[in-house]
Amino acid sequence: MIWSVIQNPRLGCNSFLVGDEVSGQGAVVDPLGQVGIEAYILEAHSLGMQIVEVLETHVHADHVSLAKDLARELSVPYRISRHAPVSMTEAHRLAEGMRLEYGALAMDVWETPGHTPDSLALVIRDLARGEAPWAVLTGDSLFVGDVGRPDLVDADEAAIKQATINQYHSIRRLMELPDWTELWPAHYGSSPCGGIFMNRRPQSTIGYERQFNPFIKLTDEEAFVKETLRFLKPPPQDAKEIRATNLSA
Ligand SMILES: [Fe+2]
Repeated sequence: MIWSVIQNPRLGCNSFLVGDEVSGQGAVVDPLGQVGIEAYILEAHSLGMQIVEVLETHVHADHVSLAKDLARELSVPYRISRHAPVSMTEAHRLAEGMRLEYGALAMDVWETPGHTPDSLALVIRDLARGEAPWAVLTGDSLFVGDVGRPDLVDADEAAIKQATINQYHSIRRLMELPDWTELWPAHYGSSPCGGIFMNRRPQSTIGYERQFNPFIKLTDEEAFVKETLRFLKPPPQDAKEIRATNLSA
């Protein structure tokens, strides 16, 4: 399979090129505005990968997304959750249960609301080797050592609480994946999308997080909500404007 991670260490962002070696087809996931279109095209070229679509795990509020621009530049589909209120009319929608296939590489779409109502996890399987999941791109639901914050969409207390409950159930669902599944979130380090426990490592495994992530140890919904809200950092100042930019066409 084809696999490459492009990062912005200053903002603690991961983005991905994932594809199938035999067909040469693949997708870019969560491309970063600060990195620029050329970097993704050059990386795809060096990997021998044709970018056939551009995906987003959710509407980001911490950095300007490159996804729509990259999709337009390449004349390929831009795909995001059916729940994302983006105004781009030609956006292709992703929904629970869909399987995206690039040759022998499959990405299963799981709806994992909490951080945002439109948050998705993409479960990656290399069908040339087996049906079992190999990695999961969790967006901002599950991080290394932490979980995504639930308060960047709504300021309303009741809505934030409901989003935290949703996050709890999304995290429990991610725990259904096997221990060996590599965990690749959209953020790491001091990114404003996570909390104070988020690790500087950009990657982990489901098994390691099952053992050592303090929020996964909270198997009671009420305790999870209480602890998540107790450790919330102040929201980033420019989150509203960045989110508005990413929602625009
Ligand atoms: Fe986010």
